[in-house]
Amino acid sequence: MYKRLLVGLLALGLAMAARYHLGTPLTPEQVGQYDLRPAVLPDGRGLPPGQGGVEEGARIYAERCASCHGKSGEGYPFNRLVAEPFPITPETESSQFAIGNYWQYPTTLFDYIRRAMPYGNAGSLSADEVYALVAWLLYQNGITDGSQPMNAQTLPKVAMPARALLQLDPETHKRFPWLKLP
Ligand code: HEC
Repeated sequence: MYKRLLVGLLALGLAMAARYHLGTPLTPEQVGQYDLRPAVLPDGRGLPPGQGGVEEGARIYAERCASCHGKSGEGYPFNRLVAEPFPITPETESSQFAIGNYWQYPTTLFDYIRRAMPYGNAGSLSADEVYALVAWLLYQNGITDGSQPMNAQTLPKVAMPARALLQLDPETHKRFPWLKLP
């Protein structure tokens, strides 16, 4: 009885492994698509060469992002990307959190979009396209005036309104007095 169950389970396991291609090695191209080291840091380390501006960003956004995030980033059916109200308070619904009122570093935007968007087809955007999208999103949120293209030099210099909300919690500060947030 147990033996038959065991054989059955083994057969099922093998069938599932074949179906989901378990054990199929990734091609170097596939590895390259997801191996995005180093992560981009707040000071801009890790940002790749390339650049992009608001106009280009608007075009790419309409094509690749608007279906999920709304025509102007207002967020339907998925996350809102353009923020009000500011500043957020404990009463603000988390669905209202967005780039303009919640994200503390502009460089995170680059890293996140490059790594995770468009949802379901991550890794398909070039560095220039990601810079352009970031330029458009920062402009839409009223954080930049949109006149400068975004690149490894200009992006880390953008001051995010929500940076002022970010503080080390008192306990961490007590334990690591030398630690400073970028
Ligand atoms: C198929 C739907 C879909 C498409 C297309 C899409 N997104 Fe998203 N996006 C999502 C979902 C779902 C989330 C939430 C993911 C999560 O929380 O893990 C998200 C989250 C985000 C966030 C984080 C929002 C926040 O404040 O937490 C950003 C930024 C973003 N997307 C940008 C983009 C950009 C730029 C594009 C176009 C290149 C894009 N997305 C295309 C579905 C989509």
